Amino acid sequence: MEWVEQRGEGDIRAMQSVVARLWSPGATRHIGDLAWERRHLPDRDRYWTSVVVREGGAVLGFASVAADGELEIVADPVRPELAGALVQWSLRTAGGASLAASVSDAEPHLIAALLEAGFTERPDAPYFVHMIRGLRHLPPPRVHSGVRFRASRGREDLERLWKGHQASWDQSRVSLQSLQAVTSTWPYESALHIMAEDAGGRVLASAIAWWDADNQVAEFEPVGTHRDFRRQGLASGVMIHALHLLADRGARLAVVYARGDDAYPVPQKVYARLGFEVAARTRTLAWAPHSHGPG
Ligand SMILES: CC(C)(COP(=O)(O)OP(=O)(O)OC[C@H]1O[C@@H](n2cnc3c(N)ncnc32)[C@H](O)[C@@H]1OP(=O)(O)O)[C@@H](O)C(=O)NCCC(=O)NCCS
Repeated sequence: MEWVEQRGEGDIRAMQSVVARLWSPGATRHIGDLAWERRHLPDRDRYWTSVVVREGGAVLGFASVAADGELEIVADPVRPELAGALVQWSLRTAGGASLAASVSDAEPHLIAALLEAGFTERPDAPYFVHMIRGLRHLPPPRVHSGVRFRASRGREDLERLWKGHQASWDQSRVSLQSLQAVTSTWPYESALHIMAEDAGGRVLASAIAWWDADNQVAEFEPVGTHRDFRRQGLASGVMIHALHLLADRGARLAVVYARGDDAYPVPQKVYARLGFEVAARTRTLAWAPHSHGPG
């Protein structure tokens, strides 16, 4: 096995290759949220130290330790020792600082490796549910007077999409340049960056669907509605528009992650209303100096 360490955003394409190969409905990661996560912030170069593990040309797994102590691990379970080795690499890389990993309960090999290394579960931490739906029996496209649902035309729409994003997220740190970086990241397609715009061209809601052609599953990340135009069916309209486009290209499934805890309940309600069902949830396992168990 070859271990290659990287700083900054890391080799996203290599990481996506193993995420796609291991994808299942409950998987912690999808190639789309990896692209979004690594590219949507302006100062992303400072964030991660990663290691990518390869063997015979295939990526078997990776680990990334973020500057704030967030730990991300993807490991092929056919190599049972790999997850534990990645956790040990992460502890060494953090140099004794605290770490926290958010891992799907559909990936017990990752949870086992973290527990084995002395991480403990934080049952009160915020968590995400992985919500999924098939592409059959879609709701009909939404019709709103004065609102048009359509795909981005690319560069000419970017600034308006960015303004729409700013109006949807409190204290968003996404810059126009970082959104541009997102749109240049595989597998982004402007044809799946859907917006609801008013007659003046203002973006009232938008969503990016990320298409994983190998697994025929698309992920929504992010979804947002301008704070002055909520509860008018716009997020739903944008997602329904995207779901029809995805069905036309033969997609099997769509997935979206939403907070599952009571502190941030709205997105889960929106997705459930659209027929998404919970397939898995994340669990937070943390390691702190002097508070870890044996191992
Ligand atoms: C989550 C968000 C995108 C929803 O956008 P929206 O355009 O208001 O959603 P919709 O109008 O399509 O809502 C559809 C349904 O979801 C449910 N819903 C939406 N907002 C709700 C709320 N505040 N409380 C309870 N149910 C709600 C309702 O069932 C609603 O249908 P109804 O109004 O006919 O009852 C929007 O609140 C937002 O941008 N939040 C900040 C960004 C965010 O958290 N994005 C999601 C994570 S990526």
